[in-house]
Amino acid sequence: MFDLIIRNANLPDGRKGIDIGIANGKIGAIEAGISAEAGETIDATNRMVSPAFIDPHFHMDATLSLGLPRMNVSGTLLEGIALWGELRPLLTKEALIERALAYCDYAVSQGLLFIRSHVDTSDPRLVTVEAMLEVKERVAPYIDLQLVAFPQDGYYRAKDGVKSLERALDMGVDVVGGIPHFERTMQDGAASVEALCRIAAERGLPVDMHCDETDDPMSRHIETLAAETIRFGLQGRVAGSHLTSMHSMDNYYVSKLIPLMAEAEINVIPNPLINIMLQGRHDTYPKRRGMTRVRELMAAGLNVSFGQDCCMDPWYSMGSGDMLEVAHMAVHVGQLSGVEDKQRVFEAITTNSAKTLGLKDYGLTVGCNADLVILQAEDVLEAIRLKPARLAVLKGGKVISRTAPKESELSLPGRPAKIDFGRNPTSSTAE
Ligand code: FE2
Repeated sequence: MFDLIIRNANLPDGRKGIDIGIANGKIGAIEAGISAEAGETIDATNRMVSPAFIDPHFHMDATLSLGLPRMNVSGTLLEGIALWGELRPLLTKEALIERALAYCDYAVSQGLLFIRSHVDTSDPRLVTVEAMLEVKERVAPYIDLQLVAFPQDGYYRAKDGVKSLERALDMGVDVVGGIPHFERTMQDGAASVEALCRIAAERGLPVDMHCDETDDPMSRHIETLAAETIRFGLQGRVAGSHLTSMHSMDNYYVSKLIPLMAEAEINVIPNPLINIMLQGRHDTYPKRRGMTRVRELMAAGLNVSFGQDCCMDPWYSMGSGDMLEVAHMAVHVGQLSGVEDKQRVFEAITTNSAKTLGLKDYGLTVGCNADLVILQAEDVLEAIRLKPARLAVLKGGKVISRTAPKESELSLPGRPAKIDFGRNPTSSTAE
């Protein structure tokens, strides 16, 4: 006897017509033709059921602040940082919480139930940290929110940056952040990596740094991050976010760097929407794409997961809380158009991110938490292509969001009256 059975589900690994039996919030069976009874049944009608999406890199303290106190006129990364500096003294705990909760509502509707958010620790008031810790508690019933202590203005470069980061960790922030390429010098950047890895080792915390978010091919802090990871025994617990300078590095140097990163088991987090938008701004033509070397890193066995980074904030006026939009951009920027690539890209917004965040009981096997999304799509390719409606989102086996399927009514001679955007009209299961 199950509490709920989702019948006729397609799975991201290509299995079709599978039933998912859920009891006590967990997956109790996942196989074709479950004969047991259930309190409730959902017919997925051969739509794809995925584990809920994960965003491994976000800025929850800045989200939905677009236009405050003014717009980013140039649209650049550096004006974004300056603009955030203008907004920061005006931030109140209440407004931060209100915006973050509104974003989380939106995330749930998109099937996004796990988020790692960097939280700026540059303002010694730490109102951002106070607010995000409260948000973490309030959304805990439906979103698993991890917080990273992020010294936006530099760990050494900002006044009291060292003390503020330590205080944020004392307050209960989960992960040690950093921004070595934004320190005053390369040497300061390398020293910050060493200091922050030491803190993580002493406190038993993971590390997730904004690392080399620049087009400068000589920005090589990822090398230091990998080396310090090994020195402090942090293998598998360290993430390098962005790593855009790798796009521009010398190929011979990268042939040495990637094996070092693999040895350190670095989790790589590119942010395709933001990288393609903000990098390459000093180029004329040809213009660099500015995303790190995703295919090469995956081929070397590194764990790569894609982040959204921003949604309607000083750096990015767009964003929709949709990890399929992130995946769609990753396919294009990374030229990940091969048949096998789609699978890798989908893993990069689900299972790979679970590994990066150290999530337990995530996935589609017996014993995993029933945190699921039913998509108006039949398979991984269709999901990334269409960014379809999230027909139902489940947390612990309970439906917490429903969205009506998208369809259009046509008035065309000799043609169908309706188009269902989640059905490939030439597929064998088309009605
Ligand atoms: Fe970021």
